[in-house]
Amino acid sequence: MSIDLALVDTIVADKGVDPTKAIPVLQAVQEKFRHVPLQVIERIAATTEMTESQLYGVVTFYSQFRLTPVGEKIVKVCHGTACHVGGAEGLTEALEARLGVKDGENTPDMKYTLDSVACVGCCSLAPVVMVEDKVFGKLDRKKAAKIIDEYDSSGGSR
Ligand code: FES
Repeated sequence: MSIDLALVDTIVADKGVDPTKAIPVLQAVQEKFRHVPLQVIERIAATTEMTESQLYGVVTFYSQFRLTPVGEKIVKVCHGTACHVGGAEGLTEALEARLGVKDGENTPDMKYTLDSVACVGCCSLAPVVMVEDKVFGKLDRKKAAKIIDEYDSSGGSR
């Protein structure tokens, strides 16, 4: 993937150059590239008051940031306590089988990334899966796999 560094410069110009702006800068970078490429970290460090180690520290500290590309849609399986008790493990297994990937991996077409996450705050609906900002609750293995069928048959939008 080629990185348009001019785009990075625009983000920096918009968000700011001092170290307190590291998070908004990195969030904007991730939104654009779907991850934070190391090349971008180097570019930000070269053009701002932030250092490579500060930026790398932020990216590795906050779980929202990713150093490797993610799929178009992240399928998040909640593994918080309520969802764990409600069968989150089975949902992950069903989604692994449906997508043909392991937890944490991208599908080869980069359409989906399967991910386990901590409580997403909808415990009354446990067990829960989130795709983008949509919450799917009270799931079982079958219903979890069906979410992907629905996304696939709608061409990616629901
Ligand atoms: S534990 Fe899954 S939503 Fe809270």
